[in-house]
Amino acid sequence: MKHSDIEKKGLLMAILVIIVISIGGLVEITPLFFLKSTIPPLENVRPYTPLELEGRDIYIKEGCYNCHSQMIRPFRAETLRYGPYSKPAESRYDHPFQWGSKRTGPDLARIGGKYPDSWHVQHMKDPRSLVPESIMPNYPWLEKTALDYSKIETKMRALRMVGVPYTDEEIAEARKGLVGKTELDAMIAYLQMLGTAVTED
Ligand code: HEC
Repeated sequence: MKHSDIEKKGLLMAILVIIVISIGGLVEITPLFFLKSTIPPLENVRPYTPLELEGRDIYIKEGCYNCHSQMIRPFRAETLRYGPYSKPAESRYDHPFQWGSKRTGPDLARIGGKYPDSWHVQHMKDPRSLVPESIMPNYPWLEKTALDYSKIETKMRALRMVGVPYTDEEIAEARKGLVGKTELDAMIAYLQMLGTAVTED
């Protein structure tokens, strides 16, 4: 049978295409089941502290991801501007990850330690007081809103189910660091740890 004959028979062609693609798929996918981890480890990556975790949830709640990505691509223009490109292990404890693709504002994957806390306090309240041409909204309520940490244990237990290694002790002690904090405190704690696990390129 010639190839042109197969091409004239739609159903046969479809079946053969499926068989060929399945073989390719199996070759690619099967080895992954035998690997313990597909993520090369990074030494300094640790789970979020309870305060950072609450800050992350506020980041998501306020929709910061609509304007900010958290993934530096391995291109020169990106690494010159933002620092070392993002590694898979850095998102290891992120559920869900915040890679994003929309960059109305700059990438935040390496924002940790770039500015002092006081800069963030002012920037969150009124970005234009620091960057006159900024189009970032003001978030003045973060400073005035007490952090609601009533669900922190539930959140940590849920994350543990998907592989974040929180211990019983850490969960039991979680509230200690959250008493009297505002949403802004949590947000800044979160921003200041972003990207700090990676220092070299
Ligand atoms: C409408 C889009 C928009 C939204 C929503 C937004 N931002 Fe921004 N953000 C920007 C822009 C534009 C800049 C750059 C100008 C500036 O620094 O204000 C920026 C800058 C920043 C910077 C400084 C980055 C740097 O490297 O200098 C941080 C930190 C930041 N945003 C955090 C946040 C957080 C946290 C939220 C959610 C509470 C948020 N942004 C929501 C647009 C946005």
